Amino acid sequence: MELKLDGKIAMVTGASSGLGARFARVLAEAGASVALAARRMERLEALAQRIAAAGARAHAVAMDVTDVESVRAGVAAAEAALGPLDILVNNSGVSATRRIGEVEEHEYDRVMDTNLKGAFFVAQAVGRSMIAAQRPGRIINIASAAGLRPLAQISVYSMSKAAVIHMTRSMALEWGRYGINVNAVCPGYIETEINRDYWATEGGKKLLQMLPRRRVGTPEDLDGIVLLLAAEQSRFVNGAVIAADDGLTAA
Ligand SMILES: NC(=O)c1ccc[n+]([C@@H]2O[C@H](COP(=O)([O-])OP(=O)(O)OC[C@H]3O[C@@H](n4cnc5c(N)ncnc54)[C@H](OP(=O)(O)O)[C@@H]3O)[C@@H](O)[C@H]2O)c1
Repeated sequence: MELKLDGKIAMVTGASSGLGARFARVLAEAGASVALAARRMERLEALAQRIAAAGARAHAVAMDVTDVESVRAGVAAAEAALGPLDILVNNSGVSATRRIGEVEEHEYDRVMDTNLKGAFFVAQAVGRSMIAAQRPGRIINIASAAGLRPLAQISVYSMSKAAVIHMTRSMALEWGRYGINVNAVCPGYIETEINRDYWATEGGKKLLQMLPRRRVGTPEDLDGIVLLLAAEQSRFVNGAVIAADDGLTAA
């Protein structure tokens, strides 16, 4: 059985790098038209061109997820260009490495405003549109293994992702009746711009030795889980919180 998304319209936030860029390509390869949202438009435009060259429809949308007006305008622009959204991959996020005693208010706000408030209002804007159009949909929130089990020195990040997990369950409860499935994926360590420099440090090398298989993942390692949650075949999966962390939180 093949997982296909032909005729579906998807939006991926944080599509300008790392996991989001990969998710957008995976959905497009499966047949979806994809709206690419983030702040760095030149990167989104470049990715949209690559996706279009491979034969799918893609459209770049400027969006700062910390700004609710920008979120609503971005969702409206995506739908004007491609049509009503069927799938959201709610992926934008930032991290900050700090001991608890050293966290500054602006750092706390940046992480919470992006990872939690941002994710909430993006999902709200897309969910409202799906409900108004009486169309079923899929929302995939990208949380983190850190939301399942706090990781040292990224307390605020871990807290924000734990809240995204609770948000996922709340939305699944409230929106199931509209045919909207809301699930969370909790990736473990995947090498992207969010952590690339870290793996070369002493701390990074030490951490690598403590990982179950002593390896960091690649964005491609999440292809299957995101595609499954976007596809019709996962219709009975709602409110699930799925670790995709190579066993990091299994013990
Ligand atoms: N890599 C990992 O090991 C890992 C593990 C668990 C979970 N995650 C989660 O996976 C998601 C993607 O992370 P990544 O590793 O791909 O990191 P990344 O390469 O740094 O990408 C982060 C993305 O978020 C976007 N973003 C940040 N602030 C934004 C804002 N205010 N408005 C709109 N978009 C914003 C960035 O786009 P612009 O800067 O262009 O706006 C960028 O596209 C995040 O939610 C992260 O927490 C990552």
